[in-house]
Amino acid sequence: MKWYVGSDHAGVMLKKSLVENLRALGDEVADFGPDNGDEVVDYPDYGEKVARAVAERGDGLGLLVCGTGIGISIAANKIPGVRAARVTDTYSARLAREHNDANVLCLGERVTGPGVAEDIVRIFRDTPFAGGRHKRRIDKIAALDKR
Ligand code: RB5
Repeated sequence: MKWYVGSDHAGVMLKKSLVENLRALGDEVADFGPDNGDEVVDYPDYGEKVARAVAERGDGLGLLVCGTGIGISIAANKIPGVRAARVTDTYSARLAREHNDANVLCLGERVTGPGVAEDIVRIFRDTPFAGGRHKRRIDKIAALDKR
């Protein structure tokens, strides 16, 4: 599995620990930064970088972390082709993939502890899109991107 990841200063520590976990699983991770939380940065900049990589390359999933996961998910969802899900529990992690075919996972370092975050990422990673009736709805979302 290939990942494009990024954060703002408020999400960098959680991002780094999740990147380590993904690499330990053998996944390929491209980290768009930042490398540390020393400098205050703006989450839309990193949300856009990761979202564009996911949408344009079409060969992996995105992982974004900010303080709450909210701002960075709003930014990522502005990019056509991106279905970013801000997730705080494992049930939603599974359904975001099964029903919504989410291609970007957004987490909040100030909201979700590292153990739950690790489980969320693992479930998101390992759950396929269910297709069927859900495909029709995803196609309608894609149509919204074009209007
Ligand atoms: C940064 O202070 C904070 O606003 C940001 O990380 C995020 O929580 C926004 O949604």
